[in-house]
Amino acid sequence: MADHWVKLELDINSFDPTHFEKYVTRCRAEGIRLATLDELGDTPEHRRALYELNKECSADIPERGEFHSFEKYVELRFEAASYDPRGVVIAMDGDTWIGMAATSSHGDFVFNEMTGVRAGYRGRGISIAMKTFGMGFARESEAGRVRTFHHPANTNAIAMNRRMGFVDSEG
Ligand SMILES: CC(C)(COP(=O)(O)OP(=O)(O)OC[C@H]1O[C@@H](n2cnc3c(N)ncnc32)[C@H](O)[C@@H]1OP(=O)(O)O)[C@@H](O)C(=O)NCCC(=O)NCCS
Repeated sequence: MADHWVKLELDINSFDPTHFEKYVTRCRAEGIRLATLDELGDTPEHRRALYELNKECSADIPERGEFHSFEKYVELRFEAASYDPRGVVIAMDGDTWIGMAATSSHGDFVFNEMTGVRAGYRGRGISIAMKTFGMGFARESEAGRVRTFHHPANTNAIAMNRRMGFVDSEG
């Protein structure tokens, strides 16, 4: 595993969604629907679907290793005090879940748990659309920042976040 994570953060108040709404608009024009897990229903079936999507996308994270079992994922993600289904954005093509941007709530910051887009849908701005859509949740919480960290070899994810204005974190 990496011993030098790339830690990034975004000041929520300085994020201007008007620069990024075009990604949301383009997704919708291409028939990609965005919704939170809260809006879709935080059901056992949807939790399982989120797990499968997360597992598939995580296979492309450098040195990610074997993914959690479903039971462990439930414990880490859904049973954590920081979990809030309003912070989990899903992108859908028809009934097929093709992307996720999951955040969790930690008082003065929101943490990016996982952003992933299925391989056949990458390079179309879907990750930025999901994260822009999810910024509504971050704004409504008391958080001032969104934080994330990445393996240094995960250049796509780092570029995606820098594209949105994330900068190197001090902490
Ligand atoms: C990282 C990931 C979510 C990006 O999703 P995506 O929908 O393809 O990304 P977008 O099309 O929205 O691109 C957003 C920005 O990221 C950067 N980017 C994304 N893919 C890139 C690539 N292959 N090469 C260079 N830059 C890239 C660009 O800056 C791009 O903005 P631009 O097109 O305006 O220049 C996707 O590659 C993925 O699911 N990877 C596997 C899972 C992962 O590593 N997740 C991150 C860890 S939590």
